[in-house]
Amino acid sequence: MRDKPVILVTRKLPGLVEDRLKRDYQPLLNLDDRLYRPDELISMAARADAILACHTEQFTAEIIAGLPGNVRAIANFSVGYDHVDIEAAKAKGLIVTNTPDVLSDATAEIAILLMLGAARRASEGERMVRASAWKSWSPTFMVGRQVTGKRFGIIGMGRVGQVAAKRARGFDMQVHYYNRKRLSADLECGAIYHETVNDLLPNCDVLSVHCPATPETTGLLNDERIALLPGGAIVVNTGRGAVVDDEALIKALKSGQVYAAGLDVFNGEPENIHSGYLKLDNVFLLPHLGSATQETREGMGFRALDNLDAIFAGKNAKDRIA
Ligand code: DGY
Repeated sequence: MRDKPVILVTRKLPGLVEDRLKRDYQPLLNLDDRLYRPDELISMAARADAILACHTEQFTAEIIAGLPGNVRAIANFSVGYDHVDIEAAKAKGLIVTNTPDVLSDATAEIAILLMLGAARRASEGERMVRASAWKSWSPTFMVGRQVTGKRFGIIGMGRVGQVAAKRARGFDMQVHYYNRKRLSADLECGAIYHETVNDLLPNCDVLSVHCPATPETTGLLNDERIALLPGGAIVVNTGRGAVVDDEALIKALKSGQVYAAGLDVFNGEPENIHSGYLKLDNVFLLPHLGSATQETREGMGFRALDNLDAIFAGKNAKDRIA
């Protein structure tokens, strides 16, 4: 009988996912959840048939070139794949997969949390209570913004964007969106399509970023575009930090052009995020928690394993991107 394929698993995964890995493969687990250096990844891949990776590992062209020829696939435990140089993977003949669908609900929940947290000054209030600095209540105390009935603008109306739109409708918000391709009417559900980001922006009382980081979207939310938002808009980002020009957003948060921001993803995360955010009261910050629920993390793991199962059965992986 053929030995089970060896899978290099770069991070600690949910128990049920590791159980399935142990049942069907020979996994090289990362029980301490230590972040592997690129040279360690390459040397640990020496006997791996595939790598089950997260967005915390960068598969640059150089690292991909260094991977031994026995590695057939990188099955990502993520929907985003900006951490993988897809062209380099294709050139090396590596199969690359991601995990769409399973994290749309969880990520949309975080987008709504960020919207509300930013609009209603949640982190400022929470800090005040924790510091025992809450001294009185008055009609003018910590007044924020109401989102009910306002316009909710989306950049990137993919799976997550569509769920976020649905949740925003629960607040009677009018949904506007920009997407590379207009959705069909049944998926649009009455959302108003704008052909360019610049057309969308003046219609956003809340702007929610749901697009991936690509060369086209990097730095998309810059000074010029922020100036197109209605004064006092709220900005939410659960996509990727790279879409936002931090200097521009911080300037707008200071001037009031942007009333508040709710951010779950950052340039330089986790340890080198722009320090300007940390000094501002009008930002609600989370540490990349978009998909962080038990159900979703298990769903992501199972989806990555479904892809590996297909690859090793000689079939087409459902979520193949290279
Ligand atoms: C994703 O799946 O892309 C999330 O950001 C977690 O990696």
